[in-house]
Amino acid sequence: MEGVTDFPVRALLSELGGFKFCVSEFIRVTQEALPEKMFYRFIPELKTGGRTASGTPVIAQILGGNPERMAETASKAVELGALGIDINFGCPAPIVNRNDGGAVILKEPKRVEKIIAAVRGVVPKSIPVSAKVRLGWESPYEIFAISEAVVLGGASWLTIHARTRAQGYAKPVHWSLIGEIRKRLPIPVVANGDIWSIDDFRQCRDETGCEHFMLGRGALGEPSLASRILSELDLVNSPNPKVEEYGDSRERWLPLFHRFVELGEPQAINPSYTTKRIKQWLNLASRTRPLPWAEPIKRASNLQEIWKSF
Ligand SMILES: Cc1cc2nc3c(=O)[nH]c(=O)nc-3n(C[C@H](O)[C@H](O)[C@H](O)COP(=O)(O)O)c2cc1C
Repeated sequence: MEGVTDFPVRALLSELGGFKFCVSEFIRVTQEALPEKMFYRFIPELKTGGRTASGTPVIAQILGGNPERMAETASKAVELGALGIDINFGCPAPIVNRNDGGAVILKEPKRVEKIIAAVRGVVPKSIPVSAKVRLGWESPYEIFAISEAVVLGGASWLTIHARTRAQGYAKPVHWSLIGEIRKRLPIPVVANGDIWSIDDFRQCRDETGCEHFMLGRGALGEPSLASRILSELDLVNSPNPKVEEYGDSRERWLPLFHRFVELGEPQAINPSYTTKRIKQWLNLASRTRPLPWAEPIKRASNLQEIWKSF
């Protein structure tokens, strides 16, 4: 997630366990070829075999509308060590959509197919190329044509955020439509959208029949969620034991944020950026339960104030 799942977040959440993959923030593909150093800036894990320190593969996320340029960028990412490519057809940001990136491409499923085919054509078969979509631009039923295009393009799997672009982040999520698509498609379908708790996960699994799930905001809102879902799926080949719930426990959250800061240090991340990120994180965590102790932290203006307020 752009501005959320950066290097220290990926390091921290993958350390807690439960994830088979994680996805980088998006690399915006424009007419200009991206210099190598930018790939390393987006995905420092390229220097460590394309994996987080705890061994979780990081998939390089790319966003853009030009098939040739997308293929060149994917090819470069793989040459530098990316272990997978995910193509973003879901971003709803007007500035991105006006510049021919993200969800706007869903309006023309043929273009979805061409972009995936171009990327697939240059990436070795051993490296997965996946697509992430919303249900459609305007209508959720656009997903039928979109998902066919994704398969024709040759994607390894399809992740569906069960909302349209028109919905933004408003309710409802249409999990049952993911289930319809899953039944029709010859490739794995990954369900995404509004999995904030184990109960949400169970409901999503029941409505979609999916075996694969992508967590976004909920993975930060409750950092034990992925690990607990993995136990529930009975896929416990993760080296980590099931992580205890963070819930509303100040004593559990405090060391988590210290670790977050520690993991960001080698990247020389600006402390004011880290301060903003902790506040953003607590805002997500506060969505599913009251965290009265977090209120003064949300008003802190630097890391020292955050530690004092805890
Ligand atoms: C701040 C923010 C940034 C996001 N960035 C991306 C992104 O770069 N690529 C992407 O495919 N989806 C992105 N998303 C969408 C999420 O991946 C996900 O599809 C959506 O939030 C619904 O799932 P969730 O309820 O698990 O968060 C972003 C969402 C948010 C809130």
